[in-house]
Amino acid sequence: MRKTVIAGNWKMHKTLDEAKAFMTNINEKLEKPTHTDVIVCAPFPFLSSMSHADKVSLGAQNMHYETSGAFTGEVSPVMLQHIGVQYVIIGHSERRMYFNETDDTVNKKLHAAFKHGLRPILCVGESLEQYENGETEEHIKQQVKKALRGLSDKQISKTIIAYEPIWAIGTGKTATSEQANEVCKLIRSVVSRVSSIETSDDIIIQYGGSVKPDNIGELLAQSDIDGALVGGASLEVDSFLELIRVGAQ
Ligand code: 13P
Repeated sequence: MRKTVIAGNWKMHKTLDEAKAFMTNINEKLEKPTHTDVIVCAPFPFLSSMSHADKVSLGAQNMHYETSGAFTGEVSPVMLQHIGVQYVIIGHSERRMYFNETDDTVNKKLHAAFKHGLRPILCVGESLEQYENGETEEHIKQQVKKALRGLSDKQISKTIIAYEPIWAIGTGKTATSEQANEVCKLIRSVVSRVSSIETSDDIIIQYGGSVKPDNIGELLAQSDIDGALVGGASLEVDSFLELIRVGAQ
């Protein structure tokens, strides 16, 4: 049976003091359900100060695919690995939209993550225009196939895929749980074709986009949604704890 994986993506929010207080608070209050993994993906400057948290795994929100080099302003997978980061978000739509990430760089980053012992959370999702033009299916298929190119079956099974329709991010609009499940099911079938049925049975697929304590239960009750990648509602300890609690039911 697949685990539930609840990941918070803080994006560009909080100060170091706020980040540390969040972790202290969550460590005190969280009774981690046995079948749930909890991840916080924090901004780079906070990660080394947060790695003491025992009930929550740490994730970064991005990284470069090279190990080191003249890449001013970038952070390498080795740097993340050495400070205890275990997960890394790759190809978030905000990075694709504002920082020119392409399917090719996403693929390179996935390979680099595995090379350095990081578990990637690969984000895919269609724009509002693609959604309205009925292009969701083809777009998602292409994004998934291109991202996973050249990875071994084992690596694919360890990749977490987050389906985040761009039109549902930070807008308060959520895909209905049935709509979200259809796309997550499609992703699973693409994985079964590029890898195997066993891999597609094992792979964790999350939904993301305006997930809140009052809609996560319905989303996670769907057959193919194994977790959530959460922005806004992951910023406050109480709502994050509530997401984990409802998610575990
Ligand atoms: P919101 O939960 O704020 O819509 O953000 C979703 C997201 O982009 C998580 O990566």
